[in-house]
Amino acid sequence: KGSILYKVMRMTKRMISFLVALALTVCVISSFAEGTVNMSAYRTYLETGEYPSLCDQWQDEFKIGVALSSFQLAGAKFAGIVAKNFSSITCENEMKADSILDQTASVRAGDPLHAKLHFYGADKVLDFASKNGIQVRAHTLVWHSQTPRWFFAEGYSTKSDAALVDRETMIARMENYIKDEMEHFNTKYPGVIYAWDVVNEAIDPGNCDENGYRKESLWYQVVGPDYIELAFTFARKYAAPGQKLFYNDYSTTDMAKKVYIVKLLRNLKAKGVIDGMGMQTHISVTSPSAMDIMTAIRDYTDTGVTVHITEMDISSEDPTPYGQMLLATRYRSVMNTLKFVKEKSGCDVESVTVWGLLDSQTWLTNSSRTCYPLLFDSKMNPKPAFFGMLLDDSIPKTGKDEDIQKAIDELGLESKEEKFRNFDDSISEENEVVVDEVE
Ligand code: G3I
Repeated sequence: KGSILYKVMRMTKRMISFLVALALTVCVISSFAEGTVNMSAYRTYLETGEYPSLCDQWQDEFKIGVALSSFQLAGAKFAGIVAKNFSSITCENEMKADSILDQTASVRAGDPLHAKLHFYGADKVLDFASKNGIQVRAHTLVWHSQTPRWFFAEGYSTKSDAALVDRETMIARMENYIKDEMEHFNTKYPGVIYAWDVVNEAIDPGNCDENGYRKESLWYQVVGPDYIELAFTFARKYAAPGQKLFYNDYSTTDMAKKVYIVKLLRNLKAKGVIDGMGMQTHISVTSPSAMDIMTAIRDYTDTGVTVHITEMDISSEDPTPYGQMLLATRYRSVMNTLKFVKEKSGCDVESVTVWGLLDSQTWLTNSSRTCYPLLFDSKMNPKPAFFGMLLDDSIPKTGKDEDIQKAIDELGLESKEEKFRNFDDSISEENEVVVDEVE
């Protein structure tokens, strides 16, 4: 038994049994979770240009959301796609502190405990949401990023070396900022915001304290580690009845991070100040696995919170029919997993938000790479990924090469290569948004 051969054989046996279990899980997910699939919505679209509403398809399971900016809604076509397909909206940037806090007004008012706010971009988004019966996830109140340093400085000074205020002053500034923002939106748009990302990305196993709290954060450095609990306590105090308070983070399937997050959720739940966990879900075509996603959702649910998928995008740098069909199978697989874990494991997954509408505006594209991670191309046409999210039967359930190729052939996408080539060319028109005349 001591021999190396025996150990290798034992390890191989375990690996085989794990892989068999995994394969069975995937089959169970894909067979059970497939409920109402769309019958060839993609084929119909390719022939007629018509396609079903994404949020209507999922209305019995999840709200379906999209992140956007107010300038995008100026275009009638963009606005029409959002109104048809989404039942939830998140401001990609316009409800973050660096968009909401008003430095000039704060200095002018001169109250060291109470900064001033403005809501220009955000109000345009909430106007649209309110008019179209769409609800909003408010993203985000307390975050180490996109929060100006002057908010932590004496006199709200923008000088990079300005002295920072003391803990008591910063706690007062935090409370007044949360109070003013919540009261503004809840008064002007009653019933529109259903969820608040109260604290974003506070866990950083790479540079953290004993609780996993990110140290590279002015909130942590000026207020202290209890800034998280304080933020949720103030949010609970000023939120409107029924609004859910979330902790939101990325890489939430990573083991190390998950352990810290679960501890944080349990602590906040025990104090009655949290309702939900936001799993951002910025993922790739291959990772994390369906099993990892499902296990993480169950682990968070076990703390007694609701789960939102808050910022889903699936990074792909392949605009060809093959690459985009592979991406579509991943969207289908993730939606199957979410449906399965909700229906069969009783996990309360309430909403699924994609982090952008058009590939041409994804945050994933930068000077070194161009990504095609979302549901619509830059010409605002639905991609295979859209139909994957619909669980359309023309999108393969697996990413197997032969299934991908078969789907492309059946849909005749190769012959529509020019469509994708145009799509690819149009991406090079650097973030061009086809903005129709304003209504
Ligand atoms: O508004 C300024 C503009 O005035 C200026 O001319 C321009 C050029 O520098 O920058 C503009 O600000 C940009 C902002 O987006 C609004 O477009 C910032 O540079 C840019 O860094 C910022 O990126 C956002 C990023 O958060 C910042 O961290 C992305 O759009 C947004 O998608 C991304 O979203 C985050 C979530 O909030 C939290 N989870 C991760 C996710 C991806 O990073």
